[in-house]
Amino acid sequence: MRLWRWTRWLSLWLLLVANLHAVSEPASLWGIPLSEYALRRDALREQAGEQAIVLAGESSTPVRLKFRQDSNLMYLTGVEAPGAVLVLLPENSPLGVSEVLFLREQSPISRTFEGELPTPDERTQQMTGVQAVRSVRELNEFLKQVAQAHPQILLNRLARNAGLDQTLREANPEAQLGSVERLLAALRIKKSPAELRLLRNAIRATIDAHRAAARKIAPGAYEYEVEAVIQEAFRRNGSERDAFPSIIGSGPNSCILHYSANRRRMQQGDLVVVDIGAEYSYYAADITRTYPVSGKFSPRQRALYLSVLEAQKAAERAAKPGITMHELDRIARETLRNSPLRAKDTDGKEYTLDHFFRHGLGHALGMDVHDPETGQPLQPGAVFTIEPGVYIPTENIGIRIEDDYLMTQRGAIKLSAALPSDPAAIERMMGQKSPLSSKAR
Ligand code: GLY
Ligand code: MN
Repeated sequence: MRLWRWTRWLSLWLLLVANLHAVSEPASLWGIPLSEYALRRDALREQAGEQAIVLAGESSTPVRLKFRQDSNLMYLTGVEAPGAVLVLLPENSPLGVSEVLFLREQSPISRTFEGELPTPDERTQQMTGVQAVRSVRELNEFLKQVAQAHPQILLNRLARNAGLDQTLREANPEAQLGSVERLLAALRIKKSPAELRLLRNAIRATIDAHRAAARKIAPGAYEYEVEAVIQEAFRRNGSERDAFPSIIGSGPNSCILHYSANRRRMQQGDLVVVDIGAEYSYYAADITRTYPVSGKFSPRQRALYLSVLEAQKAAERAAKPGITMHELDRIARETLRNSPLRAKDTDGKEYTLDHFFRHGLGHALGMDVHDPETGQPLQPGAVFTIEPGVYIPTENIGIRIEDDYLMTQRGAIKLSAALPSDPAAIERMMGQKSPLSSKAR
């Protein structure tokens, strides 16, 4: 009897705690509060002024890949369903509504194959907080009214691909159609605390994968075996997919910037460039390290490696609010030019190291690994990569070091700092056996 009473109290208490938890957690989708999605839509509508916005998401699931919603539609709604279209209208629209999300009805067959998807109903309206959710069957009729009431309309590429520009033009031949991408690019630059949490999760998964890769790399191992342990670490850390195809380029492949075949067998004396990024809840990481296959850099490899590291550090030091990516690129290039090291290119001539830095210094990072660029100076809240490299095909030496940074009032913070990059630490990391393999011994 006593025990019965006690368990009853305990279950009531647990229920209370669970409810308190539910009340204190704001409603969210994919780790972003619904209120934040609403603010994003409001900010976009404000930027658009009197212009209407028609933004389509991905229409179907590619056979070879999991469905991934278009980043812009995801940014504005958090809805992961094929065939979605979002229409945003100025506050005072005569159509009596300022945001409508059009969704497909789901057939019983689709439910059998794909499970429940968000459909145009009350539940989805509450789940998303979008003002109105309607069936895509009503889309054409609604777009005709939009074209009449708001002759200036901004569309995204997917809306054009779906022929929605034609529908608008037919309804109003005077309609002026433009692109919405530029406005979204500007909005997506500054990351919120919720976005930074997701980015940090993506970075954590990617660092874990680098540690696993460092342990796997050895003479005789195949590049794809390294890829396998990277994939395992990503998934184990909750990442849904790779943010881009993993680059595991050893020996001559270290000089191919976007090498992703990953079929070669690594050899003693090779360097291997490992450029990888997990995607976590639609946010991407992008971190590169270069490892010596034997576990020790040769003196030449080490000297070149240190020059690349110095270029990264110089850019990092200069990364303060107001500087452009272009200026940081120039600083890194100058650092490489000032290195005393020289190398021969395939034309037989000798060059300073900046000659072998064959790509841009970095890019914006966010929902996409290469987030849309605006060319504007870096401001607090921007997340970006710094990734200098030198690629010397005559020596089969490719070296790239890439980290992820957050701009703050006081300068750039390295978000991926938990993964070491100095050569001694890289060598130590390679020597560490995995807990599993040490147990087996
Ligand atoms: N991590 C690949 C790239 O930035 O292009
Ligand atoms: Mn990158």
